[in-house]
This record gives sequence, structure tokens and C-alpha cells, in this order.
Amino acid sequence: MIAAASALAAKTAALRPAAQRAAFSSSGAARAVSGRIAVIGGGQMGSGIAQVAATHKHDVTLVDVSQEALERGRGYMAKSLKRVAKKQFPEDAQAQGRFVDEVLGRVSLSTSPAAAVGDAGLVIEAVVENIKVKQELFAGLAAAAPEGAILASNTSSLPIARIAEPLSAERKRRFLGLHFFNPVPQMKLVEVVRTDAADQQAVDDAVAFVKGIGKVPAVCKDTPGFIVNRLLLPYMMEAIRLLERDVASAQDIDTAMKLGAGYPMGPFQLCDYVGLDTIKFIVDGWHKEGQGLVGDKLFAPSAKLDELVAKGHLGVKTGKGFYEY
Ligand SMILES: NC(=O)c1ccc[n+]([C@@H]2O[C@H](COP(=O)([O-])OP(=O)(O)OC[C@H]3O[C@@H](n4cnc5c(N)ncnc54)[C@H](O)[C@@H]3O)[C@@H](O)[C@H]2O)c1
Repeated sequence: MIAAASALAAKTAALRPAAQRAAFSSSGAARAVSGRIAVIGGGQMGSGIAQVAATHKHDVTLVDVSQEALERGRGYMAKSLKRVAKKQFPEDAQAQGRFVDEVLGRVSLSTSPAAAVGDAGLVIEAVVENIKVKQELFAGLAAAAPEGAILASNTSSLPIARIAEPLSAERKRRFLGLHFFNPVPQMKLVEVVRTDAADQQAVDDAVAFVKGIGKVPAVCKDTPGFIVNRLLLPYMMEAIRLLERDVASAQDIDTAMKLGAGYPMGPFQLCDYVGLDTIKFIVDGWHKEGQGLVGDKLFAPSAKLDELVAKGHLGVKTGKGFYEY
């Protein structure tokens, strides 16, 4: 994967005009990490992370496998920034435009991970949820990034220490999980996940970075699901099992949890929002492959979930899941 991407190094596309770069330099901004922020993977999460970092005056390079994917990522950022700008400058169309251009002006686009991390103080990986792809990618990134750079993964379900396995002991000291939530511009929390090999300094630097981009860090150990998903997934699976046992309808379970427990969304609304394929992927992984959870009944397969996923009813993104959209 890295080799293929490196072959594209010559095509690095810093699409930002030079004049714009100078006009919107981020010098003077308080920062927890020095150097650029490189975000690898310009999908839903990566583009959100790049957008938020650039909004907080960091120079960012967003990397993906093709120009097309990068343009898609830039499209996500532009759309989201226009919404932010309308709220921030409700009566001033010119100020809205300036804000969007200024933030997008801080984000360079590149198809070369190696070139993008050359001057990075922090590298955040947000590519597909596949351990081999992530390990290969980080092996290449570690060879190209400055020595003191923090390398971080935004994985939801893979052990951070396993992703870092191919790296040197020195690199592992500054390798962390930085788990953002979807949609990144709106969600305040970032889990800062420390492995046993990580330095306290790296954790402190990551915490300072997270605070500096307007988010709230929660530091935790590298265990399955970290904090939020470790609690949310059993909750979602138990809700599905209540439905399977015909204890109540999805609507009534959602109503009960919203009005009885004060949750903003019921478990079925949440499942549909997250994506049923994602939920199945995570619980099946924990049930079959472990990380200490092999065979755990909380994560046992659910016939109802399996059936919906097999039919392609994955939730909001396909127009149908537990509800229709
Ligand atoms: N979607 C969520 O709700 C969510 C929440 C938290 C964390 N995550 C995690 O974030 C990561 C990304 O998820 P997403 O939803 O943004 O996925 P996505 O499919 O929207 O985006 C992934 C992007 O990575 C690119 N990519 C794949 N391999 C690459 C490589 N080798 N180099 C550069 N780019 C590459 C793809 O082209 C794509 O644009 C996953 O690890 C996922 O577990 C997702």
C-alpha cells in the first residue's frame, strides 16, 4: 500500500495557492505539537479531523490514495465549513466565504504519505479499518516522519499496540490512539489511548493538542472499545436482544431510553446512525478474535442483526435499518 502510494510521490498535489499559504500562515497560534498535522485517509473521519485542526490554525496535509478521493474529502470539508460559517457570521456572506477559504487554505492535499509526514509533528491515521493496511501504512510513515513526531491511529476497534507492532521501540513511545467521534466537527470527545509502551510525554502532548483544537480528551488504556464503545456496544446488543425476545418494539425501547434514562437517542436510532455493518464487524471481531473478549456473551452474534446486514439494511446510510429513512 505504502509502496504504491510512494510511487505517486512526484504527483504530490499541494493544491493551495502560494499567495494563500502566506496570507493564512498559522504562525503565532498556541500549539501543543510543532510542525504540520498529517491526516492519512480523507474519508468521513479524516476530512473531519483535518477540518477541525485547520479551523484551529494548524497547517494540515490530508492524504488519500487518489486525487478523486482527496477532492471528495475537500468537498466534505467545504460543505461542513459552510454550515459553521453561516452560524458564525449569520448576516455576512463575505465573512462566511472568507472563513471557508481561510480554513481550506490551510489544508494541502497529497497522494504521498511519505512526503506529507516529512515535516509533521503529529500524524493521524484514519484509513480503512484493516489491521494489515494500517500496519503497512505505519511502517512507511515511521520511516519518513521526523523522530519526535507523534504517530496516532483513529481506529475504533483495533488494538493500538497491534497496529504499532512492526515499529521500533522508540516509535512505540510516541504511538497512541486518538479516537475521534463522528461527525468530528460536532462531537467534542477524543479518547487518547495509551499503550503500555507509550511515554507520559506523548500522552501529555496529545492531550494538549486535543484541547487546543477545542475538543475534550479522555485518556484510557488500550483495551477493546476503549471507553465509549466498550460500554455502548453491549448496550446496543442488549437492546437488539430485547427486540428478538419480543419484549418491546424498537420504537418503545427507544422511547423508554430517551425518556427514562435521559439519552438523546434510543439504542435503535443510534445503531442505524452508526451503521449496522460497523456494529456487526466490531462485535464479531471481539467475540471471535478476542482481545480478552473471546466468546463473551455480551458480544454473541444476533440473528436479527445478521439478517439486516445480509439484506444490506445498514441504517441511515442505506435508507433502511431498524427504521426506514
Ligand atoms: N465512521 C465512524 O463513525 C468512525 C468513528 C471513529 C473512528 N472511525 C475509524 O476511522 C477510520 C476511518 O473511518 P472512515 O469512516 O473515515 O472511513 P472512510 O471509508 O470514510 O474513509 C477511509 C479513507 O481512507 C482512504 N484510504 C484507504 N487506504 C488508504 C491508504 N493506504 N492511504 C491513504 N488513504 C487510504 C480511503 O480512500 C478513504 O477515503 C477507521 O479506522 C474507523 O474505524 C470511524
